[in-house]
Amino acid sequence: MHRFEKAEDWAKEFDDPARDAWQKPAEVVALMKIAPGMTVADIGAGTGYFEPHLSRAVGPSGKVLALDVEPDMVRYLGERAKREKLANVEARAAQLADPGLGDASVDRVLIVDTWHHIDARPAYAAKLLKALKPGGLVVIVDFTMDAKHGPPKEHRIAPEKIVEELKGAGLPAQIATESLPEQYIVIGARGAT
Ligand SMILES: C[S@@+](CC[C@H](N)C(=O)[O-])C[C@H]1O[C@@H](n2cnc3c(N)ncnc32)[C@H](O)[C@@H]1O
Repeated sequence: MHRFEKAEDWAKEFDDPARDAWQKPAEVVALMKIAPGMTVADIGAGTGYFEPHLSRAVGPSGKVLALDVEPDMVRYLGERAKREKLANVEARAAQLADPGLGDASVDRVLIVDTWHHIDARPAYAAKLLKALKPGGLVVIVDFTMDAKHGPPKEHRIAPEKIVEELKGAGLPAQIATESLPEQYIVIGARGAT
């Protein structure tokens, strides 16, 4: 497993203001079609780059679950939520093979630059399907093969493979027609029942 210790050090990279130009967080969140009051899980939330955006989208009656496997990231996420007064953001520890979400408990799941870190992805996808409420969406954002940023090329995954992994778990999925300068977006959608 690739470790992400020392959250303060990672924050320099993950929260680099220059990231906004290619990460386009507002566009990613718009694509998630979040309504006020929804519960959104950000899996592999890291230092919480997306949390201010997600917090705003769900509003005071909604909830953002910021999940990470690294204890130091969870500590940092909790402190950041307090510092930035993101009252609807809750930092939670996740396990490598299990996000620990209740059945039919979340409306949206966001997974940015993290899917390639998960080992047993088909089994993980099945857990995501279980955690989604009917009509819920999983939005996976990861680096294209020729992206300037991102992990070494041997760790990158083709979007078609992710679609396969989600579909294999019974979660209908497709590559979004929208893309980002360095990343593709895959969306899995649980049916309305
Ligand atoms: C490259 S960082 C991305 C952070 C954040 N999503 C962002 O876009 O800034 C990957 C994060 O995923 C976490 N992670 C890796 N495997 C995970 C898993 N199986 N479940 C939850 N978090 C995981 C790491 O600890 C790390 O904080």
